[in-house]
Amino acid sequence: MFWNGKTTEVSINPDAKLFLMHMSDAQQPSIQLRQPRRILVTGGAGFIGSNFVHHWCRTYPRDRVVVLDALTYAGNRQNLSDLEGVANLRFVQGDICDRELVDRLLREEALDTIAHFAAESHVDRSILGPGAFIQTNVVGTFTLLESFRQYWVAEGSPDSYRFLHVSTDEVFGSLAAEDPAFTETTPYAPNSPYSASKAGSDHLVRAYFHTYGMPTLITNCSNNYGPYHYPEKLIPLMIINILLGKPLPVYGDGQNIRDWLFVEDHCSALDVVIHRGQPGETYNVGGNNEVKNIDLVYRLCQLMDELAPDLPVQPAENLITFVKDRPGHDRRYAIDSTRLKNELGWVPKTSLDEGLRKTIEWYLAHPSWWRSLLSQEYQAYYEKVYA
Ligand code: NAD
Ligand code: DAU
Repeated sequence: MFWNGKTTEVSINPDAKLFLMHMSDAQQPSIQLRQPRRILVTGGAGFIGSNFVHHWCRTYPRDRVVVLDALTYAGNRQNLSDLEGVANLRFVQGDICDRELVDRLLREEALDTIAHFAAESHVDRSILGPGAFIQTNVVGTFTLLESFRQYWVAEGSPDSYRFLHVSTDEVFGSLAAEDPAFTETTPYAPNSPYSASKAGSDHLVRAYFHTYGMPTLITNCSNNYGPYHYPEKLIPLMIINILLGKPLPVYGDGQNIRDWLFVEDHCSALDVVIHRGQPGETYNVGGNNEVKNIDLVYRLCQLMDELAPDLPVQPAENLITFVKDRPGHDRRYAIDSTRLKNELGWVPKTSLDEGLRKTIEWYLAHPSWWRSLLSQEYQAYYEKVYA
């Protein structure tokens, strides 16, 4: 049961939720049965997108879920393999920049909601080659917005439709040690081609609400971790390198700070925002887990020593190696999610230690998943960044 002062949400069975509206003391509570949604999940074969598809199919089995994913190096059909055969789920391999395809899917599937995850998402890759980031993150988001706008107008501009744009805390730039955490009104100051492209897409989404009244929502989230995380990002890269007995490359002095959020908590925040967020608003999502990179890597090493049998190098911390810093490396991110807590009642449930344990256990149980990703492309990328 969940209560935010206005609404009590009672799960009565996986197919439906009752919303008991407590309007005022004078009014009788009314009961609303949740209408099934027909949702397009872009980037649903990536890390957060696939966790979100699992969350949505589990929570709302009567909803129609259409995944649109180009299956770039970061997209993986295996991330959805345990949902094979689910009748309400359709996977479409395609590019969000393909306007004809997006137009067709919206009409053919009578979609009413977009959860937009598709992006080029890795900062180091944006430094090596920014072009793909502008194409997918800016042009791709614009293509989705235009397609959804025309479709939404043709449908009579229904109030219930939603366009959720999943964005990042990196658009706010870098904090000094004593600065307060980012709020929804912190001015944008992106520092990498990745964060600049995400900032551009956020501005377009905002403009579509203000100009056309399209029911958009934006979330700006901190660093996620958990199952299905591609091993170019800090946590899965460290876990896999420990398993392989390879050096653990810590950039610069290791004192950079990130605010870590378990991916399932991010998915529950997005669920709440889709259902109860105010169109035109942005919501910050964070884990209240600010940690220095070097402390996180030490903690991962300890947990790996404890949970993984027969590691090639023990203790794992002997593998820690300081390497050349990332150009333009943001020093600190911290997210203030008070709005999400006060207005929609969301708080993260998973502590960092619990989330790290779950994540490590998932990687230990799925060696074929991560081993299949250590391709030539991955090795070539690794050489470029760490050589
Ligand atoms: P990811 O790189 O793991 O997945 C991206 C997915 O998008 C992949 O499946 C890829 O195939 C797909 N994709 C890429 N280009 C596409 C295109 N042109 N058309 C269709 N599909 C395409 O990314 P992620 O870490 O899951 O991040 C998802 C979203 O969340 C991104 O928008 C990212 O900016 C945002 N975000 C990520 C984090 C994080 O910590 N990972 C935090 C906050 C926000
Ligand atoms: O803050 C949200 C963002 O978090 C998302 O928008 C991005 O999509 C996501 O990739 C992530 O960006 P970061 O750059 O913070 O994540 P990454 O895992 O690449 O790095 C986390 C920190 O660890 C960062 O300070 C750089 C450092 N690092 C990273 C790698 C890959 C290392 O020290 N060594 C490494 O090998």
